[in-house]
Amino acid sequence: MPLFTPRVFSGIQPSGGLTLGNYLGAITKFVDWQAKGTHATIFCMVDLHAITVPQDPAALRRNTRELCAGFLASGIDPERSILINQSQVPEHAQLAWIFNCVARMGWMGRMTQWKDKSGKNAEAASLGLFAYPALMAADILVYHATHVPVGEDQKQHIELTRDIAAKFNHDYGVDFFPMTEPVIEGAATRVMSLRDGTRKMSKSDPVDGSRINLTDDADTIAKKFRKAKTDPDPLPGEAGALETRPDVRNLVNIYAALSGRDVDAVLREKAGGQLGHFKQDLADLAVAKLAPISTEMARLMDDPAEIDRILARGAERARAITVPILEKTYEIVGMVR
Ligand code: TRP
Repeated sequence: MPLFTPRVFSGIQPSGGLTLGNYLGAITKFVDWQAKGTHATIFCMVDLHAITVPQDPAALRRNTRELCAGFLASGIDPERSILINQSQVPEHAQLAWIFNCVARMGWMGRMTQWKDKSGKNAEAASLGLFAYPALMAADILVYHATHVPVGEDQKQHIELTRDIAAKFNHDYGVDFFPMTEPVIEGAATRVMSLRDGTRKMSKSDPVDGSRINLTDDADTIAKKFRKAKTDPDPLPGEAGALETRPDVRNLVNIYAALSGRDVDAVLREKAGGQLGHFKQDLADLAVAKLAPISTEMARLMDDPAEIDRILARGAERARAITVPILEKTYEIVGMVR
């Protein structure tokens, strides 16, 4: 096995505004990887994945820039990490084609995200939605990335990435693509809907009150937490008692994540307290943490040319890695160059 340079890659779809879920579940993890400095870090807005379902072009462009602003405002440094928009690094799509010819129809058909998203009418789904995981494998392997921080829901796609790498290596008799490791975030940072603690907080939920958007102003954030669904009981003294109270557990998890403490520490301090007071404390904490981010995002969004310059520079740095890997892949496969 060749030794692969340790590299972290992850991506977020620019398919809507950024939520507290993206921030706590993904972006803060990315910032931690960047700070650790043990791995090269590459973070990507996956616009090609977004169009596997219909997108309004103007909204897609705005959401891509907003996602970039969100990364920057949250602490991703475009010099220390490589920050890119997927379609600006064409080797992702080029390697995806090769992987379309490696992956089997049966593998793709077993992906639970495909089954969920294509629903009852798979005949009407785009071919891109079916091939989505092969493009995701290409995102990762075009950097020979070794570690991918993702949510639990993406674990199956990382396993497929390993299957594609293994089949490619086997079929061509090479040891070229690494076996990427998923780094799965803990359940504690899985942010759920403020209206239903059993469902993930989602940018596509039609009810805006179900989520905190990173662009929400202080009053909106406070109001959404005040209106969050809970139950009439006071806060318990330990985490086990929250298992049957998903709505309350979600708020406590958010509080713990925003304050950088664990849930038990939070409950020790707040045990017996009324939820009305807790929600107010949570709103204050969230505003203190998120207001500087939303202010910085607004500043960045006022200067889209600056965002575009940062992305162009990111693409240039990315391509120093991806072009040689794609060229080598073509050579292995037998393309005349
Ligand atoms: N599929 C991921 C999601 O919806 C986004 C994504 C695309 C991704 N390519 C990736 C995540 C590569 C990690 C690595 O969350």
